[in-house]
Amino acid sequence: MNAPQVLQNKLEQMEKALRNTPDQHLDFKAKRDLIERILQLIEEKDVFVLGHNYMEPLVYLLSGEQERGDSLGLAQRAAETDKPIILFDGVRFMAETAKILNPEKKVLIADLEAGCSLAEPFSADVVKEYRERYPGAPVVTYVNSYADIKAESDYCCTSANGYKVVLHAAKEYGVDRVIFFPDSLMGANLQYDLKDEGIEVIYPGKEDDRFAACEVHEKFTAQMMRDIREQYDMPKNAEHTAILAHWECPPEVLEEADFHGSTTQMGKYLEDHPKLQRVYLATECEMAANLAMEYPGIEFVRSCSLFCQHMRKITLEKILYSLENEVYEVDVDPTIAKRALVAINRMLEIK
Ligand code: 13P
Ligand code: SF4
Repeated sequence: MNAPQVLQNKLEQMEKALRNTPDQHLDFKAKRDLIERILQLIEEKDVFVLGHNYMEPLVYLLSGEQERGDSLGLAQRAAETDKPIILFDGVRFMAETAKILNPEKKVLIADLEAGCSLAEPFSADVVKEYRERYPGAPVVTYVNSYADIKAESDYCCTSANGYKVVLHAAKEYGVDRVIFFPDSLMGANLQYDLKDEGIEVIYPGKEDDRFAACEVHEKFTAQMMRDIREQYDMPKNAEHTAILAHWECPPEVLEEADFHGSTTQMGKYLEDHPKLQRVYLATECEMAANLAMEYPGIEFVRSCSLFCQHMRKITLEKILYSLENEVYEVDVDPTIAKRALVAINRMLEIK
C-alpha cells in the first residue's frame, strides 16, 4: 500500500470510529486537516504513537488499537517497539517509563508540563526514610511517580497489577509487610483487598501524616455514587447498569462501586457484561468518551467537571508542533534510568 493510501485508510478508520459519538464526529470534521497532517508526519517519521485511555477521542484515535490503553499496557507496548521515535500521548511519568525502556530512542510528549499530582509530592529521600523505618519490607512503587523514586524501589506496579505485585513482593522477600508508594488511597484500597492474605501494606499517611492522592479521583465520594444510583436508577449488582471505579478513588467509593480496576480493566468489564445499558465510571471523564465509541449501546453517565488537567494538556495542536520540530523530548538521567529500569522490568516479568 502506498503512503497516501495508508493515510486515507487511517482517516477513514478514525471517522468510522467516531460515527457513534456525534459530538466528536463534528470535532473530527472541524480538525480533519490538522489530523491529516499529524498522521502524515507519523508515517513519514515512522513514529510509534502510544495513547492513554484518558486522551480526548481525537488524540486517542491517533494510536493504533494495540497502542491504546492503561499505563501497564502502554509500558508493555513501549518495551516492544523498534521504531526510532515514540510519541507518548499521556502524562510525563508515562513517557519517562517509555524512555527508561528505550534509552536510545527519541521519546516525545506534546507538553512536558503534563504532570501528575501523585508523582509530585515526594522525593527519593522519602523512600529511603520508609526503608529505614520498616527494615526488610520491599518497596513497590506505583508507576505514577518519577524516575528517581522508581530507582529507589524494588518493584514498580500499575493499577492493573498492584494487587499481584504487592503479593509477589511479599512472597519473594518472605515477609508479610510491603511498602507501597506514593498513592495513599490506592495503598488503603490494596490493604483492604489484601487483608485476607495476611499482608500489611504500608503507605504514606497510614502511620504518619504524609499524603498523596490523585487530584481527580480523590474528589469522588460515596455519597456521589449513591446519588448517581438513585438519580439514574442504577441499583447495586444490577444486570443492566454498573458503577465502575478506579483504584485511586477513596475506599468508600470502591465499596459503593460494582467493580474496581485499572482503566483498561474497566473497559474489559463492559466487554464481559454485554447486557449493560447504563454505566458510570468514577474516573477521568474522557475515558467514557472513548468507551462510548466502542459501546454505542451503552449510555454513559458523565460528570466532566472532574477531569485531569495534566492529561488535557495533550492537544492535537501541540502534538503537531512536537512532531514537526521533534521537540519536547523526554530525558531521564542515565544512571537513574538504569536503576529505575530494574524495578520496571521486575514488574513486567510478573505474569
Ligand atoms: P491506569 O493505570 O489505569 O492507566 O491509570 C493511570 C492513571 O493515571 C489513573 O489516573
Ligand atoms: Fe495523575 Fe490523577 Fe491525572 Fe492520573 S488522573 S495522571 S493519577 S492526576
